[in-house]
Amino acid sequence: MKQTILILFLFIGLQSLFAQSDKTEQKIDKLLSKMTLEEKIGQLTLYTSGWDQTGPVLRDSYKEDVKSGRCGNLFNAHTAKYNYDLQKIAVEETRLGIPLLFGYDVIHGYKTIFPIPLAEACSWDLELTEKSARLAAKEATAGGLHWTFNPMVDIARDPRWGRIAEGAGEDPYLGSLIGVAKVKGIQGDDFSDKHTMLACVKHFAAYGAAQAGRDYHTVDMSDRTLREVYLPPYKAAIDAGAATVMTSFNEVDGVPASGSNYLLENILRKEWGFKGFIVTDYTSINEMVHHGFAADEKHAGELALNAGVDMDMQGAVFQNHLQESVKEGKVSEKDIDEAVRRILRYKHKLGLFEDPYRYSDEKREKEVMFSEEMMEHARDAGRKSIVLLKNEAVEGQPLLPLSKSTAKIALIGPLADNKEDVLGSWHASGDVSKVVTLRKALTDALPKAEITYIEGAKMDNNTEEGFEAAIEASKNADIVIMAIGENYRQNGEAASRSNLDLPGGQQALLEAIHAIGKPIITVVMAGRPLTISWMDENIPAIVNAWHLGTMAGPAIVDVLLGDYNPSAKLVITFPRNVGQIPIYYAMKNTGRPFKATDKYTSKYIDVPNEPLYPFGYGLSYTTYEYGDLKLNKTEIGMDETLEVSVKITNTGKVDGVETVQLYIRDLVGSTTRPVKDLKGFRQVKLKAGADETITFKLTSEDLKYYNQQMELVAEKGDFKVFVGSSSVDVMEADFTLK
Ligand code: GLC
Repeated sequence: MKQTILILFLFIGLQSLFAQSDKTEQKIDKLLSKMTLEEKIGQLTLYTSGWDQTGPVLRDSYKEDVKSGRCGNLFNAHTAKYNYDLQKIAVEETRLGIPLLFGYDVIHGYKTIFPIPLAEACSWDLELTEKSARLAAKEATAGGLHWTFNPMVDIARDPRWGRIAEGAGEDPYLGSLIGVAKVKGIQGDDFSDKHTMLACVKHFAAYGAAQAGRDYHTVDMSDRTLREVYLPPYKAAIDAGAATVMTSFNEVDGVPASGSNYLLENILRKEWGFKGFIVTDYTSINEMVHHGFAADEKHAGELALNAGVDMDMQGAVFQNHLQESVKEGKVSEKDIDEAVRRILRYKHKLGLFEDPYRYSDEKREKEVMFSEEMMEHARDAGRKSIVLLKNEAVEGQPLLPLSKSTAKIALIGPLADNKEDVLGSWHASGDVSKVVTLRKALTDALPKAEITYIEGAKMDNNTEEGFEAAIEASKNADIVIMAIGENYRQNGEAASRSNLDLPGGQQALLEAIHAIGKPIITVVMAGRPLTISWMDENIPAIVNAWHLGTMAGPAIVDVLLGDYNPSAKLVITFPRNVGQIPIYYAMKNTGRPFKATDKYTSKYIDVPNEPLYPFGYGLSYTTYEYGDLKLNKTEIGMDETLEVSVKITNTGKVDGVETVQLYIRDLVGSTTRPVKDLKGFRQVKLKAGADETITFKLTSEDLKYYNQQMELVAEKGDFKVFVGSSSVDVMEADFTLK
């Protein structure tokens, strides 16, 4: 009986859903039938307002464009009031009153800024990640926004690329899970809920594989690498229901993404069944002329629309040329109608036709921004993103956690009392005045300590004028804390670096202070891995604190003083020098794997093959022991499950969280396989002295890859399974797929 009632309810629910979408389609049909071709093209047009500049060109005619119906969507326009006024123009002063869609780059927070994505990914905490996205959406929607150009899920394995800061690092398995968590946080499960907004999966595709790490540069790779390494996070985010996708600036295999039928029609729409709408990146249609793929902008617009692009960001190409292209039969009005439909469908889902002003509530805006909930989460996300890279004993005692009775501290470096740079790249409308710096947090936490702060060096020039004061302060201190790294403009978009050393005069200052002989803790704050080999050799305690956002200071101090036991693990390999790049854990074995006793093997003669710090690495204030690695069987059939169990013991004196990682290696494949491939991880909370046995499950699904015929298959054969605290520090066992 109960089952019947449940089925009945389900049926009624589904029926009303279908009825609702039918009603929406009928409304769209009716509206489309009234629209002129120019008004339809207006809906395919996205312009920036004059507030933030995030690309090469700005338009100051956006209000007239809205009023004339030539622009149906705006980005970089926000706050309840500003967007209300712009919406009013669209709704009350245009012929059909179609509401505007407001988009913005809410990448790691809107007003309250959370850790940059690369940092937060190091938490390996999917719930935390989803919560950050949900809270960011809560603030952004209170600021009049409907759509965020997030998640950025570009896999990146070259830290010279400045936008590595915006993603989840080098691994597709972890990158996929993080992309899904962000889509869920941004979109929730109901677009009519005004705390949720549209997500935008970007940058499709493989933007992070720019040659030499130089932004916007050529991307060229095999279809196998594209599908095994770069595409999975986009697909995962789309399978999670992402409403929109943004095309990337780069070409892939000779075709710019915004004109690629292979990427947009074949893969995105046909293979993956993507039903949302596709927006280009900033003027990337126009840029197909520079690519040498389009003869002129009109030709570029035809290539883009016919490849599957629905919306032209800032290029005005659709606006200026599509009508003529339709007249010439180079683009069909039917395709334009379908693009308009895909966009209007989401304006309906957001409830904008019913109430175009529902996201412009100034009372709600005041209540939501910088609430205690936001600030506390920013601090929590910050401390869970900090990677402890080194903590060697000095005179028998590790420097960290720092004793709270430390009397005299020299706090040195350009990031110690810095409000803007710790917000990181893409910090949206983050309010610098709300940032709590390391200096402020340390002073508040140690009121009795004598803390002398000296900037000492600059990040953007080599001046040494601050050295003397910094050295003097260090000589008079019990311990030196150096906050050094990058400013927020030295990473992010259009900020590739060919040299990843500490920029400016920081390295010289570090060495000068090291020469004094005082114990030094370095807190490295950057948007990417830096080549800190000298630091690793000479400094006993190194904390990698990235750019952690509004609550950077308290988060770092929580770790430095041991109020939070660092648990983060690297999601991106740290190279010893730029010459090692690209370097990542999932590399191939090659036919001449390195052997110290054999000259003719794959190596450098001036640096080891191993990175400075590997993927998955991160220390704790406690220690963990792995043992009892057991498999429930040594061979599994295609439809069987392998259970891999391991016992983890907290052998130290401090409670902690350990991220246990599981990798596999397919020893023989019809195409060569990487020496390790992440296939699972679990976060285990362990009190000092406690232990826990955890079990992973693997099936043949987890072992699939593309064979020579580009079929996604699991092949019989021998495998290794690895379980451990990083991609290097592992236990291993063998099994066979039969
Ligand atoms: C930028 C970025 C993209 C961003 C867009 C809008 O150029 O490439 O990530 O979403 O323009 O600001």
